[in-house]
Amino acid sequence: MKGCRPTYTLELGFIGGQFWSFGSEGFGKKMETNLVGQGVEPPERLARDQASETSEGIISEQKQAASASESSAGLKTLAIDIGGSGVKALLLNAVGEPLGDRARIKTPKPATATAVMNVIEKLTSQQPGFNRVSVGFPGVVRRGVVLTAVNLHSDWVGYDLAEGISAMVGKPVRVANDADIQGLGAISGKGVELVATLGTGFGGALFVNGQLVPNLELGHARFRKGETFEEQLGRAALKTVGDRVWNNRLLKAIALLSRVYNYDRLYLGGGEVSHIEVELPENVTVVPNVLGLMGGIKLWD
Ligand code: BGC
Repeated sequence: MKGCRPTYTLELGFIGGQFWSFGSEGFGKKMETNLVGQGVEPPERLARDQASETSEGIISEQKQAASASESSAGLKTLAIDIGGSGVKALLLNAVGEPLGDRARIKTPKPATATAVMNVIEKLTSQQPGFNRVSVGFPGVVRRGVVLTAVNLHSDWVGYDLAEGISAMVGKPVRVANDADIQGLGAISGKGVELVATLGTGFGGALFVNGQLVPNLELGHARFRKGETFEEQLGRAALKTVGDRVWNNRLLKAIALLSRVYNYDRLYLGGGEVSHIEVELPENVTVVPNVLGLMGGIKLWD
């Protein structure tokens, strides 16, 4: 069962226009604001928030900070990626390297918040000794709260996912959009870098010198023939039209994104990159899907 589709019709030019109007100094400031909104607070802010925050709703992590005596060198992060077909978990060491194998459980159908949280409970109970949790969610997330969940059940909308998982495991939790996390794992941090994820949905993430523009929602922008990028390139479309047509569409999408964003590099991630069989432009890189988990370490920078 599908969730509510966002009703906006966002034009790409509009995204571009809004983005550049921030100006470079203002842009940095804006990014900090947005990151706070995402639960990606700068470290000094975290310390302050943990001491006092209750009313402003900036709480996207529980205030159960790892014990003061724990050195950050020994911190283990459990990265979770909630996808339309699978929920995955991977334990990371302090520098973001995998400790052990990725665990995966099929996403329940219907993918209600309760059903998926049960899966997360199972995954977290199988993981040894993590100190904190990073979560990638396939929708807009602000301050740990889900705002859209197009490819899951609509009862996710309004759910405080950071709070829910933190209450479950008793550890600090940070949540961000899944494509944003994939991007955090993929980018070089230099120039304009765009990320598109090809999976159940079509995700997008934009970075300028490593600064994230959160919740880009490229997948729901109009692409061609009156359809969005997700309608033309999501998993359902791939199954319907097959690899050859899907690959041709992908090249058209890359050409359009290149004209609109003028990125230095585009990264393609997500489970369906294995279907890419066309030659890609020189400034397009295919990245492994595991970065959707490994990027989770960056939420704590
Ligand atoms: C969602 C995005 C998500 C993408 C990939 C889209 O349907 O709206 O937020 O990043 O799917 O999961």
